[in-house]
Amino acid sequence: MITYNPATMTSLQLQKLLQGTIIPRPIALASTIDNLGRPNLSPFSFYNVFGTNPGVLVFSPVKRRSDHSFKDTCLNVKVIPEVVINAVTTDMVEQVNLAGCEFDRGVNEFLKAGLTPLSSELVRPFRVMESPVQFECSVKQVIETGKRGGAGNLVICEVLAVHISGSVLDGHGQPDPNKLDLAGRMGGDYYLRTTGKALFRIARAKDKFCIGVDALPEEVRMSSVLTGNDLGRLGGCEKMPEAPEIMDVIKSEIFNKWITRSESKRETFTGIVHNAARELIGRNEVYEALKLLVASARVEL
Ligand SMILES: Cc1cc2nc3c(=O)[nH]c(=O)nc-3n(C[C@H](O)[C@H](O)[C@H](O)COP(=O)(O)O)c2cc1C
Repeated sequence: MITYNPATMTSLQLQKLLQGTIIPRPIALASTIDNLGRPNLSPFSFYNVFGTNPGVLVFSPVKRRSDHSFKDTCLNVKVIPEVVINAVTTDMVEQVNLAGCEFDRGVNEFLKAGLTPLSSELVRPFRVMESPVQFECSVKQVIETGKRGGAGNLVICEVLAVHISGSVLDGHGQPDPNKLDLAGRMGGDYYLRTTGKALFRIARAKDKFCIGVDALPEEVRMSSVLTGNDLGRLGGCEKMPEAPEIMDVIKSEIFNKWITRSESKRETFTGIVHNAARELIGRNEVYEALKLLVASARVEL
């Protein structure tokens, strides 16, 4: 491991390291207005949800590195504490990139980026028509985390209204990631498309009812075949196999074939069983895998 001490780094070095490793980040396309009512639209990937009752979103326009000044979005929310945060789809990410250019104060980035302003219902800043999800928010607080360039300004927003296009909902009325096709921010110039092969599902483990990795036999925990993810799946089982279930495995034909094939050599036998268990886990037969593994750890060769 290489260990960095932020105190000995430039803020740009630290920024690159943090932005390149805290990934993927969602992108808030924040629409605000200044005290003259002029619209402003800028993307921020220092952004997330921090509570749902009430709905709280936070994004952070950092202080400019060039002259330590506040960005226009930050100045705007301090005088008109309202913002619309629009989700960014892959279809609009080039226009959003354009909205992220440092235009002069008062320049309307809706025009620069070619995005369409849409009146909001509860706040003064516009929504972005092209975005399928728009959060109308009031700004509760802005917390400054430092005085120099790169310092954060945490804009704490309360969600007043959520507008979502029916075209991005699944059959249960829930947001469908494949239909949403949102873009995420990575380090450097990289972006991420949050659909297709990038998506996978994990069923929630059964809270306090799962056995945990620590309940697995040492031979299983130390396996050179099973991965950390395999151990995670096994640890999510609700119970350890009972003695009769283990006996059934030990007496089974396949188990005895493996013993013969390994010529009763412990390491070879363990390798065969652990590979078979991996296959079962891959087919979602996790408890079957657990029975095999526990039986193999108990059997005397
Ligand atoms: C995808 C993307 C994400 C960005 N994320 C941030 C961010 O989280 N914080 C920030 O200060 N600037 C971020 N920027 C840069 C700002 O959008 C840029 O400085 C913008 O000009 C600020 O506009 P404003 O001065 O009108 O507020 C990002 C730019 C892009 C393209």
